[in-house]
Amino acid sequence: MARRPTTGPEKGPKTLGIQPAKGKLGIMIPGMGAVATTFVAGVEAVRKGFARPIGSLTQMGTIRLGRRTEGRFPKIKEFVPLAGLDDLVFAGWDAFDDDMYTAARKAGVLEHELLEKVKPFLSSIQPLPAVFDRNYVKKLDGHHVKKGKNKMDLAEQVRADIREFKKRSGASRLVTIWCGSTETFLQPTEEHQSLRAFEKALAQSDESIAPSMIYAYASLMEGVPFANGAPNLTVDLPVMDELSRKNQAPICGKDFKTGQTLMKTILAPGFKARLLGLAGWFSTNILGNRDGEVLDDPGSFKTKEESKLSALEHILQPELYPELYGSFTHKVRINYYPPRGDNKEGWDNIDIFGWLGYPMQIKVDFLCRDSILAAPIVLDLVLLLDLAKRTPELRGIGIQEWLSFYFKSPMTAPGLYPEHDLFIQLMKLKNTLRHLKGEELITHLGLEYYD
Ligand SMILES: NC(=O)c1ccc[n+]([C@@H]2O[C@H](COP(=O)([O-])OP(=O)(O)OC[C@H]3O[C@@H](n4cnc5c(N)ncnc54)[C@H](O)[C@@H]3O)[C@@H](O)[C@H]2O)c1
Repeated sequence: MARRPTTGPEKGPKTLGIQPAKGKLGIMIPGMGAVATTFVAGVEAVRKGFARPIGSLTQMGTIRLGRRTEGRFPKIKEFVPLAGLDDLVFAGWDAFDDDMYTAARKAGVLEHELLEKVKPFLSSIQPLPAVFDRNYVKKLDGHHVKKGKNKMDLAEQVRADIREFKKRSGASRLVTIWCGSTETFLQPTEEHQSLRAFEKALAQSDESIAPSMIYAYASLMEGVPFANGAPNLTVDLPVMDELSRKNQAPICGKDFKTGQTLMKTILAPGFKARLLGLAGWFSTNILGNRDGEVLDDPGSFKTKEESKLSALEHILQPELYPELYGSFTHKVRINYYPPRGDNKEGWDNIDIFGWLGYPMQIKVDFLCRDSILAAPIVLDLVLLLDLAKRTPELRGIGIQEWLSFYFKSPMTAPGLYPEHDLFIQLMKLKNTLRHLKGEELITHLGLEYYD
């Protein structure tokens, strides 16, 4: 027999502990480019009834509860207390001073007709001056930038922006999500190991501190959760874990899982499930948006490449299956090709082998739209991070591994390998929600139906 939940969904002690989503939720976005404007324009279009939030688990997804025979499949947004779209308010920073309507026009993701319908709303959102330094994003030359005597001073200015936005907007809660450009490749250093060392380095404007880390530090100091949509280290550092736990401001990252990596984490678990071997996986892309231009710089590309390469190794576990996955070649190329704009094309050539070692090939040609795939991820992440902040069991644990579903390089506790398989990630996310509400976890055992 299936174990019945000991606490009903509405009355369990854990459920009672989750604070309701009362009042407005303020979303602060460093980097108001293609992804950010597609997200904000989309939320407004959905609120006004012009469009539907396709791709968003929190808006369209359901969750099965109890046995299959019980027929309980509530929508996720009805099962857990999430902020409603009408309660979202927005602000952000950018190194260019275009308002969100102008930035959306330049990004060229959404068609003119849709953008005109949300123009008054988008035009009203003006970016705050950025913490920006060309040394970390070589291909951009923005001038809408804060000045300060050192990096600590810049962090104080961002903290003041956060407090001011909260006051001005009347938001009861805030979340920050990095949608800024990919910064140059950095590795963790001594300065990132503790809050003390990091604050000293901020005061000395140490080069190990990239702008994205300044936003992250400022948010966490203000007790505001932080999600990282790019592959930069940003919150994937011991200092940020320490600060997150200390100030009960959940963190997650890194690098939104869209496009080619999404396909990889859908296909590779299938090959492994059927014990098909892999000889090689060659991935190449053409894209022509500003992200593509930034990634044309070798430093920024290296950050992205590291993030894209890690998924296959972790899914296929070559150490457990040396004959199948012990020596595959994995290459990833990104080519900046302006005519394509945001409409990327990604080709994958996959060399697999089956019974008795016979080779086979699979070709994937994905004509995708990067920001269309990323926008619902941004929406889900801000809503779920806000839920984490209101949940006693989650707000003090730092890294929110249950949100791995959304990332190319999911963050984990030190020493743990990340889970990349999309389907395991989805189960992890949904089981976390069931757990928080005192519902039975779903194991898919199924024997209970055959007593
Ligand atoms: N679109 C996707 O599918 C996808 C997937 C995974 C990751 N990402 C990452 O998300 C990020 C945003 O992508 P995008 O397509 O919107 O790029 P974009 O170039 O259109 O927008 C990035 C914006 O960030 C701004 N910026 C750069 N440094 C900044 C700073 N220090 N402070 C404030 N603003 C800053 C830039 O001026 C630009 O407007 C990139 O890092 C990208 O790699 C995107």
